[in-house]
Amino acid sequence: MNEIRIDLRRRLGRIDRKTYGHFVEHLGRCVYQGIYEPESPLADSSGLRRDVLEAARGLQIPILRWPGGNFASGYHWLDGVGHRSERPRRVDLAWNAIETNQFGTNEFIECCRAMGCEPYLCANLGNGSIDEAQAWVEYCNGSNDTAYANLRRRHGYDQPHGVKYWGLGNELYGAWQIGHKSAQEYARVALEFAKVMKWVDPEIRLVACGAQHMEWDWEVLKTLGPRIDYISAHFYFAPEAASGVPADEAASRRHYSLLAVPRQVEDYVRILWQLIQAARRQFRLRHEIRIALDEWNVWYRARVPEHKLEDRREAPPQLEETYDLTDALCVAAFLNMLRRQCAAIGMANLAQLVNVIAPIRTRPVSAEDDRGLFLQTIYHPLRMAVEHSGPVALDSWVECESYESSRPLAGQVPYLDVCATLDESLRRLFLSVVNLHHRDAVDARILLHEGQWKRKGLHHSLTAGNIDAVNSFDEPDRICQVTARLRKLANPFTFSFPPRSANVLEFELEG
Ligand code: AHR
Repeated sequence: MNEIRIDLRRRLGRIDRKTYGHFVEHLGRCVYQGIYEPESPLADSSGLRRDVLEAARGLQIPILRWPGGNFASGYHWLDGVGHRSERPRRVDLAWNAIETNQFGTNEFIECCRAMGCEPYLCANLGNGSIDEAQAWVEYCNGSNDTAYANLRRRHGYDQPHGVKYWGLGNELYGAWQIGHKSAQEYARVALEFAKVMKWVDPEIRLVACGAQHMEWDWEVLKTLGPRIDYISAHFYFAPEAASGVPADEAASRRHYSLLAVPRQVEDYVRILWQLIQAARRQFRLRHEIRIALDEWNVWYRARVPEHKLEDRREAPPQLEETYDLTDALCVAAFLNMLRRQCAAIGMANLAQLVNVIAPIRTRPVSAEDDRGLFLQTIYHPLRMAVEHSGPVALDSWVECESYESSRPLAGQVPYLDVCATLDESLRRLFLSVVNLHHRDAVDARILLHEGQWKRKGLHHSLTAGNIDAVNSFDEPDRICQVTARLRKLANPFTFSFPPRSANVLEFELEG
């Protein structure tokens, strides 16, 4: 019999709220026509789409990364402040688009305030200068009578924005990046940026650019270790190709291949965490450095378009991936992984929030049709994770059937992906279980040690008849969260997890 055991005393640690972070980039229709569309009847007085804000609030976003992504490596922040009519229109070489700069630092801060989240700015270490980064920190956080703090005041913001989290560039290890660097070059340059930025405001926290690669990450830790608080890693998930097999077989292979990815990433998180500890020991670093998975998502259908001059325009639709049930389950399993690895992970940001590989899809509204957005399948596990979880991760023990993954080093993948969290103040226990099986329900005996649940509980779940089911403007609620009551709960009890489903069992604890 499959079994899940939870022991209230075996704790993995506290989950940093920033684990549930998000990311918006000047890319496609993420910012323009996504969160910002001043000409829309749905816009508020700041030009932000009210319907998007409402959907974003449902995700209780703790932190939002901006302005990129690849875009950050060519972005000069001074272009995006001051009177809008005077802001330059620029060629965005990262995404072959035209950037109007109508949305800049202050619009982003307004957006964070409206969503109730912390801003996280990514500095330009591609073709940007140390002076620019220094000035940006001063513009945002300066409280003295100095040039850039005064510029912010002239732009209508008397009080500092107090931006605490700053990225030291984006993916500088890649040839696709403006200002691509070797590990040594990056670490050397980033050290100087870090030094100056922290001198301007010693309260800021810095995220160094990691590469999901041990040699690069070690170099960064060695050189930048004394100055940084986080090292980043980006993970995009794609299934292995399945060709030459019948359609059913291809769909099921794609499903299982994709669902093995969270386990593979978990392996790298463990490795990186040990690398950080080794670096702290070797270089005598007393302060903590944690992992920021500041871009992650399923992304494989809508690939980066070629740079064609005739396609260059404002907000061209790009990377508009439509997500199905398998993708939603993958996101749910990844969220479980993030919480299991809470000791190592200090921040994670889903890439991206609106339109671009995103849980929210918008369109312009018209007089005939005022439905401006729908929620993609992946929105729902994100929402479930913030709504039905506690701040403490428990070390659950799972024994269940598994499948052999064809992915290198992935090995056996259990059909039940499990994470238990506890809210001590509410005396609630949440058991998040993804049943990866595409066809069968999986039964498991659930047992609690060192505690007792009340006889009534709740079952929140997400599933559909097919793994390729999607939401759309026409069928926006084909996949969404449903909640049922659980009665007569014993300890242990047996629960049947529906095929291809994400679930949270919510228990009230005795005592
Ligand atoms: O999120 C899309 C892109 O993916 C980002 O701009 C980049 O950082 C990553 O390669």
